[in-house]
Amino acid sequence: MGMIVPSLAQWLEATGVFDAPGIFVTGTDTGVGKTHVGVQLIHALRVLGREVIPRKPVESGWLNDEALTDAGQLAQAAGVPLDKAICPYRFQAALAPPRAASRVKQTLLLRDLAATCPLHWDKQQFLHVEGAGGFYSPLANDGLNADLAQILGLPVVLVAEDRVGCINQVLLVAEAIKQRHLQLAGVILNVRQPPVEGMDNLTDLLGYLNVPLLRFPFNSSHFR
Ligand SMILES: Nc1ncnc2c1ncn2[C@@H]1O[C@H](COP(=O)(O)OP(=O)(O)OP(=O)(O)O)[C@@H](O)[C@H]1O
Ligand SMILES: [Mg+2]
Repeated sequence: MGMIVPSLAQWLEATGVFDAPGIFVTGTDTGVGKTHVGVQLIHALRVLGREVIPRKPVESGWLNDEALTDAGQLAQAAGVPLDKAICPYRFQAALAPPRAASRVKQTLLLRDLAATCPLHWDKQQFLHVEGAGGFYSPLANDGLNADLAQILGLPVVLVAEDRVGCINQVLLVAEAIKQRHLQLAGVILNVRQPPVEGMDNLTDLLGYLNVPLLRFPFNSSHFR
């Protein structure tokens, strides 16, 4: 049985994320709230004394206003400048990364994306890595988000949009994470739209998942 955790701070404790060297943040899809939730996770971790190293190894749909990019938001949350190291591979086309790269005649390799992350870091530091799209979305010419997650070997945090249909999506990704021999640390259901009356995906997931579950409220900012 899983457990519903009432606050982000308690979720960090229950999942063990607070004590982990870092996390790989994945989603059930693109646009589900990986960055939105990630920003709050980073704020919470910093309040608890961790120094966060943010990474968005590749970002497509890169915006002229860099503060609004995923990498920019994660850097700001971590309190560090948005330098190249945080996100070296930046592409303007709003396509899956290998497609966006091919538009400017570049090839993206998993080993280059993995190399954007440090090999070693101090115990008080925390490596926060956000993929692109969902767990099985293409990330490089030679692999998916799942492949980078396996190379990095960090616990995985799964973000889903809390909407009708998300139980299927969460359970499919949870199954895939297990199949890749990765640890699913916890699930966050992100409320991006005002909730549908009578829907309770968190409670419905309880019987199927053995991890701490958190509902992340609409327009919330726990630590800002
Ligand atoms: N809880 C929320 N309340 C209000 N708005 C939200 C919430 N979560 C996400 N959003 C908005 O929804 C949009 C998509 O969220 P976000 O960029 O975090 O998704 P993502 O999973 O990181 O997407 P990508 O696959 O592009 O990285 C953003 O405009 C964000 O501000
Ligand atoms: Mg994002």
